[in-house]
Amino acid sequence: MEIIAKGISKRFFRKAGESNYFFAVKECDFSLPEAAVTILTGHSGSGKTTLLSMLAGLLAPDAGLVSADGRNLYGPDDRENSAFRGRHLAVVPQGRAVLDTLNVLDNCLLGLRLAGREAVDSIAKAEEWLDRFEILPLRSAMPRELSGGELRRVMLIRALMTEAEVLFADEPTADLDEENTEKVLEALQTAAHQQQKTILIVTHENEALKIADRVFRMNKGEIVPA
Ligand SMILES: Nc1ncnc2c1ncn2[C@@H]1O[C@H](COP(=O)(O)OP(=O)(O)O)[C@@H](O)[C@H]1O
Ligand SMILES: [Mg+2]
Repeated sequence: MEIIAKGISKRFFRKAGESNYFFAVKECDFSLPEAAVTILTGHSGSGKTTLLSMLAGLLAPDAGLVSADGRNLYGPDDRENSAFRGRHLAVVPQGRAVLDTLNVLDNCLLGLRLAGREAVDSIAKAEEWLDRFEILPLRSAMPRELSGGELRRVMLIRALMTEAEVLFADEPTADLDEENTEKVLEALQTAAHQQQKTILIVTHENEALKIADRVFRMNKGEIVPA
């Protein structure tokens, strides 16, 4: 699935109530091709998360259009938009996004369950991922017992388990050690190259550049070639 953004931009107000706004993402065209890892780097505050959110259907741009295989992600029918998102786009957000009342295994399966696509072998597959990312002993633990890096791997497994053709990962290797960083990046690369997934990784770690098919940098709301 190809994501194409045309003429999108997003501005925010500096302070609530003030009239001076600034562009977190300046008007740009950007696209994400299938079967490739696209990496977006840049300083903190340069607009990476804002751009990712617009491409993932989570934040409507102020201007311009975002489409996935030709379908407008911000069409008039919100329910249709979110159904489409749930089925085709998976997001690993920068912050914490686990359900605290579900254990690790159930959090890994959550995406599949919400999409009504759990299969007989889903638990076994989740356990394979947990094992690969060295957190299988935590399968029954609750999220509050996990470190930041462990939680991040759970969020990533959830995204990898879904059948979504497009995967957005915002700083997926933040708080991971070297070995797990490598494993996570390798899993994302495999998803792109062997399952033809469309992948966007936002990161400021050089480590990730090794697996990039395309690299861009953001600088004060502008996308520049890296
Ligand atoms: N909802 C918001 N309201 C106001 N300002 C925001 C909002 N979201 C992000 N910003 C600002 O927009 C700029 C870009 O933010 P962000 O996209 O999160 O950058 P990055 O992910 O590169 O660190 C920052 O200056 C940030 O403070
Ligand atoms: Mg960010």
